[in-house]
Amino acid sequence: MNNIYILAFESSCDETSVSIIKNGREEIATVVLSQMDIHALYGGVVPEIASRKHIENITLVIEEALNKAHMKMEEIDAIAVTYGPGLIGSLLIGVQAAKTLAYIYQKPLIPVHHIAGHIYANNLVKPLEFPLIALVVSGGHTDLIYMKEDYSFERIGGTLDDAVGEAYDKVARVIGLAYPGGPLVDAYAHKGNDTYDLPLPKDDDSYDFSFSGLKSAVINVVHNEEQRGNKIIPENMATSFQNRVVEILTKKTMRALKEYHVHNLIVAGGVSANKGLREKLEKLCEKEGINLTVPAIRYCTDNAAMIGAAGYYAYLLGRSAGLELNAKASDILK
Ligand code: KG4
Ligand code: ZN
Repeated sequence: MNNIYILAFESSCDETSVSIIKNGREEIATVVLSQMDIHALYGGVVPEIASRKHIENITLVIEEALNKAHMKMEEIDAIAVTYGPGLIGSLLIGVQAAKTLAYIYQKPLIPVHHIAGHIYANNLVKPLEFPLIALVVSGGHTDLIYMKEDYSFERIGGTLDDAVGEAYDKVARVIGLAYPGGPLVDAYAHKGNDTYDLPLPKDDDSYDFSFSGLKSAVINVVHNEEQRGNKIIPENMATSFQNRVVEILTKKTMRALKEYHVHNLIVAGGVSANKGLREKLEKLCEKEGINLTVPAIRYCTDNAAMIGAAGYYAYLLGRSAGLELNAKASDILK
């Protein structure tokens, strides 16, 4: 079979990224331009600023990716793009750029769901083995997904309120850490002790999660201590919070593997970079004989390489779109 080169776009939040991926597995070149420093000034992503920055950066990022790959547009087989979910103004820039190149160079246009991208970040580590369970943990999603084969997604559970990354970022702010808080809470959690009495959220027989109650519990402890003229110990709060999050995520994931008779587990999304979660899953999977894959750290947060990896399988399945393709702020993975 001929080699297939996918030019991929990701602009769903505050990273402008373009990548060229060969045969769904081999990274030829990736450029990620992060706007994190700008948004950190405001304590979170400002959508209007994000879309303006994408406009400023997108053509530079395309050129740099092609230059890095020593490739011309004529050598590309198809163009994949994150069409959603995400910030609509941000998504539109990537979608418009992808449509423009698809039109000019007459290439197939492949729409990719952002979470399919996060899942296929694992395919850049080693080929996915099926059936598998994917634990998706990002700033906008917390889902357990069953995949019986490539590009087949069955959601078996997920968060009923806050996404886990969102809870990390809010807890970080409450305990005085900068944005984005997830990596900082993770680092603090490794320096503290589990001293705060926080609930294990939604500890039931379902595969659903809930993190808003746990987040509120952290806020209540901080406020109660403040009213007494005390300060919380941020390291200990980070440890206590992370322990509850990791415990409930791993407990439901391990049960899903057992009940679905699945021996392959992958983790996806920004929170898959979490050291505490990785350590606990490694230990449990080794004990249970589960084949665990986690993405390389640089593929955990948003990047176009994962979109190119997913886009390859969507391309093989003929999932192309016309130039009427539009960005979607929210959409179900299917
Ligand atoms: O996947 P992602 O880049 O964006 C979405 O698609 O939402 O995930 C970003 C989220 C943020 O909430 C960030 O705080 C969290 O991932 N995150 C972490 C860690 N690294 C990133 N959360 C916990 N521990 C980490 N080490
Ligand atoms: Zn993401």
